Amino acid sequence: MNLQPAAVVMDITGVSVRFGHREVLHTVDLRIERGRTVGLVGESGSGKSTLAKAIIGTVPVSAGAISFDGANLAHLDRSRRREFRRRVQLIPQDPYSSLNPRRTVGQTLAEAINPLRPVVRRFEDRITAALEEVSLPPDLINRFPHEFSGGQRQRVAIARALIVEPDVVIADEITSALDVSAQAEVLELIEQLRIKRGITMLFISHNLAVVKQVCDDVAVLYRGDVIESGTAGDVFTNPVNDYTKLLLSSVPGSDRFSLDLASEA
Ligand SMILES: Nc1ncnc2c1ncn2[C@@H]1O[C@H](COP(=O)(O)OP(=O)(O)OP(=O)(O)O)[C@@H](O)[C@H]1O
Ligand SMILES: [Mg+2]
Repeated sequence: MNLQPAAVVMDITGVSVRFGHREVLHTVDLRIERGRTVGLVGESGSGKSTLAKAIIGTVPVSAGAISFDGANLAHLDRSRRREFRRRVQLIPQDPYSSLNPRRTVGQTLAEAINPLRPVVRRFEDRITAALEEVSLPPDLINRFPHEFSGGQRQRVAIARALIVEPDVVIADEITSALDVSAQAEVLELIEQLRIKRGITMLFISHNLAVVKQVCDDVAVLYRGDVIESGTAGDVFTNPVNDYTKLLLSSVPGSDRFSLDLASEA
């Protein structure tokens, strides 16, 4: 893994994933360029979370290769794999289950910084700064996940991903469980962080309106195949694939992009 800036930071080529006999991703190609936010859209079950998990290595790929910063992830030694785990952070689809209910926010964030010695006191300044960055008050440090609203929990999950200063953040449906106002707040936060930190992001969503709002590039996943990809401008204004066209054209009214793919599935 070299540190020189490459245009393509994450290069996914011909990746397939099987669960038992069933292949759920079929030779997927996706390139993520540094500093850009790539929207991965597709109806429920199309394989979005599976691709996210394949990237971070929690589901095995059955074919193809994933490279990060020019290095094939399958060939990293232990220390480079550890480094990769820090540099690429997944904000999982369900923060309720991904945040340990028995750990305070402080403990969760301390554990992200140092899993072997998660001492809150030692990292208190960093934790407080991370909470501030996601607009949470510092006194939440001693609170537990069940004491939060959905939006606050999502902010904690975002803070946990950011506190280790990753290069790439994979955000899996981070707004879908939220009501409209909490959703808008989280999107605003993502936008600020993107500008301030220049983070590269894979933004997974089945909501095209949201993707249109935050993404530079878009890839459309349909039953395990990337059927269309390009800049958000191109995909939204000149979709090439019939399925993408159908999705966009089936949106009533002037806001042709405010489509919830899941509801169409
Ligand atoms: N661990 C697993 N074992 C077996 N099948 C799985 C597993 N994880 C996912 N699948 C299947 O793989 C397919 C893709 O699932 P995935 O969770 O990636 O979809 P998704 O696009 O993220 O959907 P959603 O929008 O509902 O989150 C689905 O058919 C799902 O049932
Ligand atoms: Mg999913």
